[in-house]
Amino acid sequence: MKIEERDGLARIAKFETPHGPIETPTVLPVINPNIMNITPQEMKPLGLQGIITNSYIILRTPELRERALREGLHSLIGYDGPIMTDSGTFQSYVYGSIEFNNREVVDFQRRIGSDISTILDVFTTPGTPKPEAEKAVIETYNRMLEVNDEEGIIAGPVQGGVYPDLRQKSAELMNSTNAGYHPIGGVVPLLETYDYSTLVDIIINSKINLSFNKPVHLFGGGHPMFFAFSVYLGVDLFDSASYIKYAKDDRLIYPDGTRDLARITELPQWSPLYDRYTVKEIRDLDKERRSLEIARHNLKAIFMEISEIKERIYEEGLAQYVAQKARSHPSLMKAYSRIMSYSNILEKYEDLSKKTAYFFYDSFSTRNPYVSRINRFTESYLSSNKKDTYAFTYRAWNPGYTNSEFVRDVYQKIDCNALISWSGTFVPAELENTYPIEQTVSSGFEPDPDFSRAKDLIAPFRVDMYKGEKFEGEQVRSFNLNKIRMVADYQFGSGVGRMIFRDDVRINVSKTGRIRGILSKEGRQIATMRNDGFFTLTYYGASLIHSQLKPPAMRVTVSKESAEYNAKGYSVFFKFILGSDENIIAKNDVLVVDEDDVLAAVGKAMVSGRELREYTEGIAVKVHEGRD
Ligand code: GUN
Repeated sequence: MKIEERDGLARIAKFETPHGPIETPTVLPVINPNIMNITPQEMKPLGLQGIITNSYIILRTPELRERALREGLHSLIGYDGPIMTDSGTFQSYVYGSIEFNNREVVDFQRRIGSDISTILDVFTTPGTPKPEAEKAVIETYNRMLEVNDEEGIIAGPVQGGVYPDLRQKSAELMNSTNAGYHPIGGVVPLLETYDYSTLVDIIINSKINLSFNKPVHLFGGGHPMFFAFSVYLGVDLFDSASYIKYAKDDRLIYPDGTRDLARITELPQWSPLYDRYTVKEIRDLDKERRSLEIARHNLKAIFMEISEIKERIYEEGLAQYVAQKARSHPSLMKAYSRIMSYSNILEKYEDLSKKTAYFFYDSFSTRNPYVSRINRFTESYLSSNKKDTYAFTYRAWNPGYTNSEFVRDVYQKIDCNALISWSGTFVPAELENTYPIEQTVSSGFEPDPDFSRAKDLIAPFRVDMYKGEKFEGEQVRSFNLNKIRMVADYQFGSGVGRMIFRDDVRINVSKTGRIRGILSKEGRQIATMRNDGFFTLTYYGASLIHSQLKPPAMRVTVSKESAEYNAKGYSVFFKFILGSDENIIAKNDVLVVDEDDVLAAVGKAMVSGRELREYTEGIAVKVHEGRD
């Protein structure tokens, strides 16, 4: 996969197939080879990237089978773009069994020229007891092994029912095979019952245990209501039969839900039917024609949502879109709440900072991955630097521990000077300019009455006190020195602040009091502070860290050949990476070193530590200064 743009776990990527690339996220509309209501040609202007069809239906229908074997799948369907084929698993689940085995079905898909073939995985329903679900996971894995040496891209689905540990096991097993594509299976019944929160568990436990270099597909996730949530959790593809199924029941799909034709009075202007029919005219069409027209409307709704999601990823604002969409249905709100309970995991993949402002809405915002990141920092800071820390934090998810108690127990006992309230938590004032603290647009919502009381209690320590008359001269310098050290600790790891910023550094400050550049006493530039409140390191600054911070911290290790190029200022490509620090945060500065830990360059990592090792195509680190 080639990553074009990313926003946390969400990504815009290109995935190559024998019939051209698929740009994700996208939906593969289901084409029934027997009844082609709307042809792929007609779907192209919507942004169609590929389609999915069922090889089992072709295999069991003699005329289709003969034609497919003779002319190939692409000619049969009348489409020259990427075609994925499913295997008959779902039919096997609905009817009990099918008349072909795994090898036969996969072999057939290869012979007719499918771009992505699917094994005959074993479908488990949400109600399947655990021992049975586990058996299905093992059997699915064995079936993947059966065809492991086949040519072409094979989809190895993750099964495991509603059990997170089985999803993890299944993902790990599939990851160890030659599967080039990973659908998440067995979720259709959850989608049908709006059980999106269980789906969240399933997606997360599958996704984080699969290679980031393979596309992840949500099997049957064809309604746009849940697209943004899935993409936010790292899903790249969907398939949709719902556009036609819903149409047959006179149901119109909208990005946020579904409406019955019998109950609407107006068509939305974006509908392809808007200019052509009144609602009454659609109702009066004969059944077949009506279904076809509604299917056109439904496809438009589906692709419109994909466009919106892509735009949000470009803006790096998908999290806010998800927060907004959560309000469109209580089941989505429940799913959103579940997503927030995984903030400690999501945080690992969140960028250091984003292009968009951070929106603080309500109590849900207090459980955001960024809050998780800051809390983790302040907690570790408190335990490691008890004497001179300023931190503190409120754990909204720890209902037994109130803010007032916290202030009484912890905050007042330590030697702290400054603290600000942000997003339902208390953060060190030194981090005031860092993303997302300064870039927050707040509703002013306060998570609970106790938070206001706690704020009053800490008022004497608030940072604004330091901006007034009482805070000048030496005090300003002392605060700024604390600030640059704490930002460095937060950005690069505990202890880095003191490694690079000695007591005698020169701190350049703008007219408005904003820190801009930090130089050594001798005048060598160490780092500059950007508008997002974080540092860009110079090579000199990086070398100060490199000589004091032990590997693998902050390192991206590359081959000797690559290191020579990177030392001249050229970017690092994924394919030359030999290792990376697991804790690297996407868009943060990293040390580019060779196998002997010789520092070649400093640059900005495009992805997180784990992803640096998994992707194989494109730019991994944008070097801003090389050694030479
Ligand atoms: N279509 C919907 N769900 C599934 C699944 O779990 N496996 C396969 N192969 N196809 C599906």
